[in-house]
Amino acid sequence: MNWQPFRGHAPGNMTIYSASFPDVSDQWPMKDDVTREINALNQVMKNDPALMPPRIVENSDGQATLVPQHAWSGKVFETRPALAAWRARLVPSALALFVVQNPLEDRLPDGSRMDSESRQWFIHANDAIGVRSRARVLAALVDKYIRNDIDSDWISLASGAAIPVLEALQNAKLDGQRVHLTLVDDDAVALRWAETMAAQQGLDVGEQLTLLKRHLVHHMIRHDDLLLELGEHQAELVDALGIFEYFNDADAVVFLRRAMRLVKPGGAVIISNMLTTSPQIDFLMRCIGWDPIFPRTLQQLQDIHLAAGVPVDDVSVVVPKDGVYAVMEIRVPE
Ligand SMILES: C[S@@+](CC[C@H](N)C(=O)[O-])C[C@H]1O[C@@H](n2cnc3c(N)ncnc32)[C@H](O)[C@@H]1O
Repeated sequence: MNWQPFRGHAPGNMTIYSASFPDVSDQWPMKDDVTREINALNQVMKNDPALMPPRIVENSDGQATLVPQHAWSGKVFETRPALAAWRARLVPSALALFVVQNPLEDRLPDGSRMDSESRQWFIHANDAIGVRSRARVLAALVDKYIRNDIDSDWISLASGAAIPVLEALQNAKLDGQRVHLTLVDDDAVALRWAETMAAQQGLDVGEQLTLLKRHLVHHMIRHDDLLLELGEHQAELVDALGIFEYFNDADAVVFLRRAMRLVKPGGAVIISNMLTTSPQIDFLMRCIGWDPIFPRTLQQLQDIHLAAGVPVDDVSVVVPKDGVYAVMEIRVPE
């Protein structure tokens, strides 16, 4: 993997790279039109902070339905039924990410049919590109941690359906090395999906796969029982993609400190966080209405790892060209 120079604003002492990856959006029609349309909506949201995200209410037959809070949002969902079903029933679960990671599927995980207008957005929205590119960064980084020994342990915290992890494993083209995966998430449905997809890759529960339904705030941040359950300094690799921005700063510090304790000397923790500068962030938060999160600057991310006791020299950051997420590789010294 060739990292490229990062041209944005970052702390002077941060080791940081940019990267670009081939993506389904490169070849799919309507890229410029969709980008223009979403950029325009993003600008409308930026100009009017009073525009609120849609609300989700249960209708009389118990189904989640979307109630847009402004006309822009109303129009977006009215003309894109799959996007509306996705927002109402799947966000913010890992199955929402499944759609973004597999935008060519004919149906959403809840059975809704994909329509072509929605598909274009699942392909071309910059945040969707960012979800796919952060997985590519993970795949590029993990190679050096899972190839060294015959057996290695990889713990995925907030694994969801484990799509990035399984993709990375598939691409690693291991040469006889066995990786034991432990997937931790508090969503039983996501873990079941992960189990099915892992089985398709030949990974079975009990042999190379452990599934743990655990709440990370209760079992890793407020208390450390998950640490004791998983064992200290046992894993070559811990990844936590797509969860750091759900924790406030104080919780993020504790989470990182404890995640580091899971790792063997020479291993690494890989986390991601949405950046405050993500180009279509206002559209995502207030037109689509993603769950409230803590997007961060690179400086804030550095402040958190320093507060967790990780020196600058042990961290490298990759921000893909789309600019949505920072992916941090946090090494545990030998
Ligand atoms: C955005 S998804 C990321 C999934 C996966 N890591 C990926 O990148 O595709 C976030 C995941 O975090 C899980 N999650 C959120 N809060 C959690 C918590 N407090 N404890 C455990 N899992 C949590 C959700 O169930 C969801 O699967």
